[in-house]
Amino acid sequence: MSHATAIKKDKIFFHDLHTPTASMAKDVHSGLSGKQKSLPPKYFYDKKGSELFDAITKLPEYYVTRTEIELLKQYVPEMAELLGINSYLLELGSGSSIKIRLLLEALRPEIYVPIDISREHLIASSQRLIQDYPWLTIHAAYLDYSHPWAVPDFGPGRYNAFFPGSSIGNFDPANAIQLLKQISQLVGRDGGLLIGVDLKKDVGILEAAYNDSQGVTADFNINLLTHINDGLDADFVPENFSHKAIYNEDKGRVEMHLECNINHSVRIESNLYPFQTGETIHTESSYKYSIDEFHQIAAEANFAPVEVWTDADELFSVHYLKVG
Ligand code: AVJ
Repeated sequence: MSHATAIKKDKIFFHDLHTPTASMAKDVHSGLSGKQKSLPPKYFYDKKGSELFDAITKLPEYYVTRTEIELLKQYVPEMAELLGINSYLLELGSGSSIKIRLLLEALRPEIYVPIDISREHLIASSQRLIQDYPWLTIHAAYLDYSHPWAVPDFGPGRYNAFFPGSSIGNFDPANAIQLLKQISQLVGRDGGLLIGVDLKKDVGILEAAYNDSQGVTADFNINLLTHINDGLDADFVPENFSHKAIYNEDKGRVEMHLECNINHSVRIESNLYPFQTGETIHTESSYKYSIDEFHQIAAEANFAPVEVWTDADELFSVHYLKVG
């Protein structure tokens, strides 16, 4: 099925598993054709967007990354113990960050499988990891995990997946269950999942995290339009939109929108999309879960809770779940 390309002395194997069903043109067209316009958050992350996200993770208001890293630092020996030795470690959304390094150092898996939609990021971060961890073998999987996907079977052994950052929060609950089901099938019997999940909390704290005072999140949101201009033949004018982020209590999610501030049309390839003043493009949902709520959706994907770690302020949670 896939053919792996060896880069760097058989320590990194590259698997091009990107399918034609995943395409920016299709995603953008379908998102802008509905009554409530929307764009998929995965398109935030071009080079500029990844830099802006990095800046977000360092903002005083954005507690998410900092809190998760603290939890990993504090509990990684315990986590590694539960994940077990001789494991294959998969990561959804790959590995330039401190988080995967903490886990790799504690776990020392035989094979690390980063999965990412950005080919450049996947290769660059794999190369950096191999330099620092010469004992590691990497099978980098280039694919879009928001569409049905699979990675090659690496043989018998214990499989664990790592899904940090509360990226699961970008999926609505039905799709989150679908994705968790895929992960549970992938790691199989005796497999596990270590996953970071942002918790429900005071609305003020949540809204501040997505409306930072320096306007970095606003730039990050607007950059989505620039990425689409670059990726497709499109003429979005970023100045015609402004950043908006609110907590939707009913749905238990922070929503980011781009609000249009002038009646106009946007041309994308051969299509024209009309925009009215005040209408929005919904660009991201970031679902927040109580521990019980997350256990419920995990159970629907055949994952049973093993352990959960939270910080003293109960801002963030890291769960370890096992199949069955
Ligand atoms: C990477 C999806 C977890 O939802 O908090 C940060 C992305 N968006 N600020 C989140 C994000 C705006 C982030 N996730």
